[in-house]
Amino acid sequence: MEVRIGIIGGTGVYKIFEEFEELEVSTPYGSPSDKVFVGEVNRKKIAFLPRHGRNHSIPPHRINYRANVYAFKQIGAKYVIATSAVGIINTKIKPGNFVLLSDFVDMTPYTVTFFDEFKTKPVHVDMTEPYSEKLRTVILKCAEKEGIKIIPKAVYVNTKGPRFETPAEIKMFKKLGFDVVGMTSAYEATLFKEVGIEYASIALATNYACGIKKKGFSVEEVISVVKKKNNQLIKVLKAVVKVLE
Ligand code: HPA
Repeated sequence: MEVRIGIIGGTGVYKIFEEFEELEVSTPYGSPSDKVFVGEVNRKKIAFLPRHGRNHSIPPHRINYRANVYAFKQIGAKYVIATSAVGIINTKIKPGNFVLLSDFVDMTPYTVTFFDEFKTKPVHVDMTEPYSEKLRTVILKCAEKEGIKIIPKAVYVNTKGPRFETPAEIKMFKKLGFDVVGMTSAYEATLFKEVGIEYASIALATNYACGIKKKGFSVEEVISVVKKKNNQLIKVLKAVVKVLE
């Protein structure tokens, strides 16, 4: 089977399909978060993987990122578009805004890589373009055409989770110029780069990060914003699938 376009993200994104099959994929790195859902969108075969499993039962630090990424490699993906929820550090961004990630800083203590051993030669992937510029350009154009606003650039800081950040951490991240915070994208961007798949990430700003506002927030609020924006997200993804070659 060859599926050139993949999507990894929140469970609600499976609504992009009218019909789909579930494909069990095993990789040399173990099992991905769930079966891979394969169906047609705009007459193209695409694959969707729910990052945290279909019931959102896998926390960020327990995701088998290597298996998830390698599953896309095995089915022949050339492009993978990610969707995720992020917290807001830069208050020019508002809850409910979509942001297209442009760079990241990994603040986690973990090393996630396919190169735990240099078999034939040393490999250090070039991260000059952490997210595919080609995909980013297509996403921005498609969103504009659909009349859906996406903030074109944002620096993402990856924290280790699953707890949210402390106010002091967010204060530090703000001083360092980071725009949004999440718990998954640095690993994915690194691994997709290592296997040569073009990867971009449409993030949905769901909440002000801890300490930005006096009032705290709950996971339920995050989920409610994700649900509200799901149709718009699917519209953009469908348009992107249509034009990708
Ligand atoms: N922090 C980290 N990850 C997140 C947040 C947050 O505030 N909101 C959604 N994902």
